[in-house]
Amino acid sequence: MTTSTRSTAKPLIKLLKEDHDKVTALFEEFEELHDEKNSNAKKAELVKLICQELTLHTLVEEKIVYPLARESIDDTDVMDEADVEHAGAKHLIKELEKMDPQDSHYDAKVTVLSEYIQHHVKEEEGTMFPELEKSGIDGEEIAQEVIQFKEKHQKLASTSRKGSAQKVSSKSAAVHSVK
Ligand SMILES: [Fe+2]
Ligand SMILES: [Fe+2]
Repeated sequence: MTTSTRSTAKPLIKLLKEDHDKVTALFEEFEELHDEKNSNAKKAELVKLICQELTLHTLVEEKIVYPLARESIDDTDVMDEADVEHAGAKHLIKELEKMDPQDSHYDAKVTVLSEYIQHHVKEEEGTMFPELEKSGIDGEEIAQEVIQFKEKHQKLASTSRKGSAQKVSSKSAAVHSVK
């Protein structure tokens, strides 16, 4: 038997599946809170995490993975559908980011987003990723690119959070000094 030196997409697919599993677990946690009383703070925290995870994951796919998949696989339908599914998910994420758990249709929007993502993940893992595996792309190199992209964005996000926290604290300091 000869050892194949052909590149494999596996390291990249492994990373993307880890994201899928993480967000699926967060949706399950939310589902468990459904009939629990006084769970609004926990719900808000979970939804914030879900939105952050999904925003970064879709960005990574759109900037790095999908352009490559479009070049490497022949199935344009699966890629077009993935684009439309991302757009639908992003619309719901935007709405949820502006909402509070006590708002009307909050739980329904989280549930619909969860169903949307479940369907999308099934399409990616069942159709797109196997096609990508057959294409012979270098998954190791792209996985590194994905890791670096995520680190950069997480750093930027935490800097901007710190920035806005500082603005708030300097505003409250100004209020105190007026008193
Ligand atoms: Fe994905
Ligand atoms: Fe996706």
